[in-house]
Amino acid sequence: MANKLVIGNWKMNGSRQSNTEFLSKFLAPLDQLENVDVAVCPPAIYLEQLAGLVVQSPIHLGAQNLSESEQGAFTGEISGSMLRDFGCHYVLVGHSERRSLNGETNALVAAKFKAALNAGLTPVLCVGETLDQRHDGETLNVVNDQLQAVLDAVGVQELGKGVIAYEPVWAIGTGETATPQQAQEVHQHIRRYIAEISPEVARTTRILYGGSVKGDNAAELFSQPDIDGGLVGGASLDAHSFLSICRAGQSRQL
Ligand code: PGA
Repeated sequence: MANKLVIGNWKMNGSRQSNTEFLSKFLAPLDQLENVDVAVCPPAIYLEQLAGLVVQSPIHLGAQNLSESEQGAFTGEISGSMLRDFGCHYVLVGHSERRSLNGETNALVAAKFKAALNAGLTPVLCVGETLDQRHDGETLNVVNDQLQAVLDAVGVQELGKGVIAYEPVWAIGTGETATPQQAQEVHQHIRRYIAEISPEVARTTRILYGGSVKGDNAAELFSQPDIDGGLVGGASLDAHSFLSICRAGQSRQL
């Protein structure tokens, strides 16, 4: 079965110099790890630099966003085929920062998921509730709606070509991680929700946890039966921290 998958989301951080420094510390130790899949999502402008630096390494590249359109008069946008052109394998869709700061709706996120698949990318669909929604007992309903929008747009088989990342908004960048039990509960729910339509897709789809994953909590999170890896923000900016998270993901096969 598939390896755990650990994806670093660098958000709007980095420079040509710091990217080079990161990889000079990260690549050799990464080579010692087995049975873990690793990707980094730098700001799009650094994809070409990173593509050159990670060549011959097992790291996959991802982007943080894409346009729902293929080409044309969309100033400032980047299409899925352009990302492919620069060696991208993954692309995040529906990250909570884009949902809240850029007004991305479930429908737009679903359109981006579809555009990613059309371009030959593996979309990483981010879902998750805010603190208010959790307090109101709405967590599972929010996640259902976010999943259902993509299911409506592409169907279950296509959903299964992507990766899902459960990221409770209240745990992102706050240092407050969901407990392994809280995360497992939602992951299990997501898998069951998909299983109602296709048990096979539910079994094979990787569901990552994101939200203050660190070197010291990754192993316990990754040991939960429905957690297939992590989407890591802050801790992916430091080679040492990111390596310790990747290490926690190795040798634990699905
Ligand atoms: P964090 O971010 O690890 O800094 O909480 C996770 C994310 O936004 O994907």
